[in-house]
Amino acid sequence: MTKLRYAVPCLFGLEGLAAEELRRLNMEDVRAENGRVTFSGPPEDLARALLWLRTGERVLVELGRFPAKSFEELFEGVRRTPLAELIPRDGAFPVKGYCLDSQLMSVPDCQAIVKKAAAKALGAAYGLNWLPETGALFQLQFAIMNDTAALYLDATGPGLHKRGYRAVGNAAPLRETLAAALVMLSRYRGREVFFDPFCGSGTIPIEAALIAKNRAPGLKRTFSAEHFPWLPQSAWTQARAEARDREFHGQYRILGADIDENAVSLAAANARKAGVGELIDFSRADAVRSPLPAEAGILIGNPPYGERMLERREAQRLYTALGRHLGGTDWSIYLLAAEPEFEHYFGRRADKRRKLYNGRIQCACYMYSPKGRKEEKP
Ligand SMILES: C[S@@+](CC[C@H](N)C(=O)[O-])C[C@H]1O[C@@H](n2cnc3c(N)ncnc32)[C@H](O)[C@@H]1O
Repeated sequence: MTKLRYAVPCLFGLEGLAAEELRRLNMEDVRAENGRVTFSGPPEDLARALLWLRTGERVLVELGRFPAKSFEELFEGVRRTPLAELIPRDGAFPVKGYCLDSQLMSVPDCQAIVKKAAAKALGAAYGLNWLPETGALFQLQFAIMNDTAALYLDATGPGLHKRGYRAVGNAAPLRETLAAALVMLSRYRGREVFFDPFCGSGTIPIEAALIAKNRAPGLKRTFSAEHFPWLPQSAWTQARAEARDREFHGQYRILGADIDENAVSLAAANARKAGVGELIDFSRADAVRSPLPAEAGILIGNPPYGERMLERREAQRLYTALGRHLGGTDWSIYLLAAEPEFEHYFGRRADKRRKLYNGRIQCACYMYSPKGRKEEKP
């Protein structure tokens, strides 16, 4: 197999960072689009992309693209896609997908048509009337947009944000991909003091530690593509060995704090699970009262935001107290907040801001350069 085309869906606002990651991995023909990035390469590139991507949600292999104004066109498009090149005789091929701004808008109907057409294509290729689907998972995904269908094979399994270190059940955690994006925006590489005063379950300091160590975020988990017969095991062995070789073993000063004692214990447990427990100091502290841990450094956090009115007012008061506490310091500050008037309450206009989505919640990262210093390019 020579070259394949891949798509990496990502949270809105993170396309540029995901594209930058892929270019740094030397992937070919990287293009950032709305909500996703595409690139090309041999199957071996899949293993490296899956292991290394910090800001992408998953990696999909593009199987085909065709007009789909009607169910007939959708069926024919899928049936003509050479699925047997990538899906073996016993592969299980469930189908999911979405429709947007198209004549075909019923997802369950399109799902049924794609399944039927895929079964027809594979049945014809393998000379079978009935496909056993007893083997490995080959999750198919369709996206019908503006009457054009794209068909993908998901190489990921659970989303890439599932690095395998976070316990379930903690309140309002930040998605790992978004936490990594905030750290990447700050250009932190392990040299400065790093501090998250609202650490919650520890996602931001943990992602910072993984970045400081240059640890591939997927090193401790598995992917659907590990069962793809056309992606040799040697590609995985090589990609994992390369990732281990590229890891740094320096001294870092990374701190996380939270007002909630339970959050502090949870964050420490998550960090240990991520293999960076010894690199991060977690403590209980009030972000608007406790002294900062150093004269200067990088401070990143997502303070609480209230959804109900009373909580919202409380959050606004916290931003004001935080603005007073952090004003005039030599720290580079990055705060993620959903409050549209954040700068007003914080008491300072941000030097830069970037619109992002935390799940479905629109928010922004407000960036403040150290006082008196010329703005650094994020
Ligand atoms: C939105 S959550 C942060 C989520 C975190 N980034 C994560 O990934 O789990 C906000 C956190 O701020 C903490 N918090 C609220 N008020 C605080 C204060 N005055 N000082 C420090 N932490 C505070 C809450 O306990 C909560 O854990």
